[in-house]
Amino acid sequence: MDWGLKNRIARIITPADNRALMLAVDHGYFLGPTEKLEDLKKTIAPLAKHCDSLMITRGALRTSVNPDYPVPIVLRVSGGTSIIGEDLSQEDITVSIKDALRLNVSAVAMSIFVGSKYEYQTIVNLGKLVNEAEEYGIPVLAVTAVGKEIGTKDARYLSLACRTAAEQGAHIVKTYYCENFEKVVNSCPVPIIIAGGKKIPEKDALKLTYDALKAGAVGVDMGRNIWQSENPVAMIKAVHSIVHGSNNADQAFALYKQLSGKPNQKSKNNKQNNKQNNKQNNKQNNKQKKNSNKKSKKRN
Ligand code: 5RP
Repeated sequence: MDWGLKNRIARIITPADNRALMLAVDHGYFLGPTEKLEDLKKTIAPLAKHCDSLMITRGALRTSVNPDYPVPIVLRVSGGTSIIGEDLSQEDITVSIKDALRLNVSAVAMSIFVGSKYEYQTIVNLGKLVNEAEEYGIPVLAVTAVGKEIGTKDARYLSLACRTAAEQGAHIVKTYYCENFEKVVNSCPVPIIIAGGKKIPEKDALKLTYDALKAGAVGVDMGRNIWQSENPVAMIKAVHSIVHGSNNADQAFALYKQLSGKPNQKSKNNKQNNKQNNKQNNKQNNKQKKNSNKKSKKRN
């Protein structure tokens, strides 16, 4: 592997632990202003320093990321459809390698839609993108299983999709976590990172992260489960504690709660009990006061 290619991959997958925390904010390319990603700058700014790389489109990069900030960029270079269009799988390459180089990116990313009507077009495009990108030492991240195929996220389908991407020369593959994920990892000769998918409770997203890594994924490319979280900074730090630290899912969730300033349930219950006890005591005191007032009035 060429030095430049290796060097760029090392910006995305940290060589010290062979792990990657990529923050995905490219959703607008087919979803438009997704919830909590309406104001890209506002969403990205507090999170960028906690990830290893940022997955983003060129328009979002140019308008919403400070070029002085040294976060490695994984540039989405495919598109052409929107969520209200006919078929999400009809993607093409929309960004030139020249523009990717101009933007000084660490990798380019595109989707393939295995099993869809546009399977052929997207897989051939992946091969062509690898041809071009390798000329300049730029790694290619292949995104699999987004869109219609999302319902068929079993190990058999995901193994097929990931392996197809790797055989075309993708240097990293992004897919979804599923049961028997080891099967997907073991049959894919290049590193796999997982997407987070739709927003789920923080505890579950952290378990997903932990389980995927345990099964052999090198990391995550997570979006909605971070920036749609009630506390995005606490969430990305909790994910980080699994990806680059030694936390398991429960420890990471405890960290999330602590960083969010949420008291744990025990002390919350204690506080509620104390409040109730205080109310009851106050009522009793007031009753006693009233009675002693009545008595003293009678005496007078
Ligand atoms: C969309 C993408 C997203 O980057 C990917 O789905 C990761 O984001 P999330 O964790 O929200 O699923 O590639 O096509």
